[in-house]
Amino acid sequence: MAGFGYVSVIERNMFRLRRCDVPVLRDGARSIRVLHISDAHLTPGRRRLMSWTRTLDTLAPDLVVNTGDSIAHPAAVKYFLGALGPLLERPGLFVYGSNDLYSPVPKNPARYLWRTSATDHARMMPDLPWAELGAGMTAAGWLDLNNRRGRIKAGELDIEVAGVHDAHIHRDRYDQIAGPADPAADLRLGLMHSPEPPVMDRFVADGFDLLLAGHTHGGQVCLPAHGALVTNCGIDTARVNGLSRHPAADQPVLDGHRAWLHVSAGLGTSPWAPVRFCCPPGATLLTLVPATSEGRRD
Ligand SMILES: [Fe+2]
Repeated sequence: MAGFGYVSVIERNMFRLRRCDVPVLRDGARSIRVLHISDAHLTPGRRRLMSWTRTLDTLAPDLVVNTGDSIAHPAAVKYFLGALGPLLERPGLFVYGSNDLYSPVPKNPARYLWRTSATDHARMMPDLPWAELGAGMTAAGWLDLNNRRGRIKAGELDIEVAGVHDAHIHRDRYDQIAGPADPAADLRLGLMHSPEPPVMDRFVADGFDLLLAGHTHGGQVCLPAHGALVTNCGIDTARVNGLSRHPAADQPVLDGHRAWLHVSAGLGTSPWAPVRFCCPPGATLLTLVPATSEGRRD
């Protein structure tokens, strides 16, 4: 019982800001700070999650990226937008995750360890206010990148951006955004909820430099000195959380190119799997620096 209390109450509320440098900019470019949030799965009662999220604006990010699964309750949109608060006044980008569309279904929390959640919504119609959620973010000026491309200024950087809807439920339509990224842009940034290798391969083939994703919750229930047991998607457990490369460092490059990949550990969990172990929730502040700089991670 004490163990369940730890994983469901204590660690699930041990919000942690992770920081890492990403050496992805050209020589001489001025660095920018990108705040990556994901997987809040917000319900109105998660007051600690909301109050911690509201503190993130003090980091003064140049860009905010939300890689989806923001809500888990029909009434959660106003609470999620309220938790973002002044972050909405900053440049921002978002994609949806499956849980922005479908309300959570009761399940054994441990099931996460042995099967994918991809079919959880197979017989359901979208029943969460995903359009209201998106409208709230776009009204603030954030770019909707669900199967869309765009351009955004962050700091002094002119950034080409593209994203796909959630591949985990087959709503990704990469063909709608396909094509070489602009080599004249200062950065080419790709977004997706679930880090599925076939989608990432296409971003890399089109010349994208940095890919941001969520969905894995960092493994959510991990073993000390071992790490994640599952990823709940096509990526390997070595890249389930934090900064890595795609293709992975031990794989051949694609079309002469290897992108940086950041996978968020996420702010929350499904209300029906309210546990975390050796994988505290939180957000990440990525500092993008020139490629000549040494990458740092924690
Ligand atoms: Fe999630």
